[in-house]
Amino acid sequence: PRHVLAIDIGGTKLAAGIVTATGELLDTVRTPTFVEQGPDRIVERLLDLSRTLLQRSRASVSRVGIGCGGPLDTRRGLIQNPPNLPGWIEYPLVRRIQAGLGLPVSLENDANAAALAEYHFGAGQGTRHMVYLTISTGIGGGLILDGELYRGKHGNAGELGHIQVRYDGRPCNCGGRGCLEGYASGTNIARRARELAAHHPESLLARLVPSLEDIQAQTVLAALQAGDPVAHALWDETLDMLAAGVASIVHAFDPERVVIGGGISNFADLLFPPLRERVARRSMPALADSVDICPAAFAENVGILGAAAVALREPMEVSL
Ligand code: BGC
Ligand code: NA
Ligand code: ZN
Repeated sequence: PRHVLAIDIGGTKLAAGIVTATGELLDTVRTPTFVEQGPDRIVERLLDLSRTLLQRSRASVSRVGIGCGGPLDTRRGLIQNPPNLPGWIEYPLVRRIQAGLGLPVSLENDANAAALAEYHFGAGQGTRHMVYLTISTGIGGGLILDGELYRGKHGNAGELGHIQVRYDGRPCNCGGRGCLEGYASGTNIARRARELAAHHPESLLARLVPSLEDIQAQTVLAALQAGDPVAHALWDETLDMLAAGVASIVHAFDPERVVIGGGISNFADLLFPPLRERVARRSMPALADSVDICPAAFAENVGILGAAAVALREPMEVSL
């Protein structure tokens, strides 16, 4: 049987797994990314993890699929300075992994890969037009149009975290301003919360943590659930930014379904009902009425399943 090695490189964690041709995850390992170590060191650790998995697996593994934060160039196998992987500048990831493991490697943007997993095995099944959005360390997107992953020229189509939701708004790690990611990623929800808590030391948001640096996106949601008005205002703005982004996506692609994953979808009750209502208010009714905004099927393993889908379903030759 043809198995693949799947690798997921995120701003917070690295994961690798052995996946069967039918999308079954047999074995997996994960570890923090430690982005400050830079690409060479991180790739060394990734190769060690991969070798451990390959040794443990008794089936033969025929190729490797990698999902990695972008921008990148899938054909040349390069990572091109992603907002959440500082120092990966024109980094020859495919060449390094191929040399380290001696197996053919396919590369895809991490969110594009996750979109494939949701489309083939998860919440996108039964559709032909699906947009996937992940709200995690960054915000990523993947476009399934007419039943195919739409890649664009270099594999960077669907950089939906960097669509502009506020003209000249907050700075984003990508170098731009007013990006959706700059407001609504896990990291930036936490960053905005720290700023707000500094102005409202009396708020529950500020009092839930020993020091303001300890505020995380989860702290905001905990304060929100406890009825804190400061957390409420922050979440309200976050929902507006997400709704503006999703409404733009709906107008651009007329999808049947928008699937939202990433850490934030653990708080489905706080996210989906108000988001659906706000997207409807911001969209042309003919489009909004027929779009289904729903949670992803896969949680933490989506990156690995997606990278496996890249290797299994979308074998692509890379010219190094
Ligand atoms: C990157 C995307 C990536 C997303 C999630 C964003 O900052 O630009 O390429 O998909 O983070 O990792
Ligand atoms: Na993408
Ligand atoms: Zn940006």
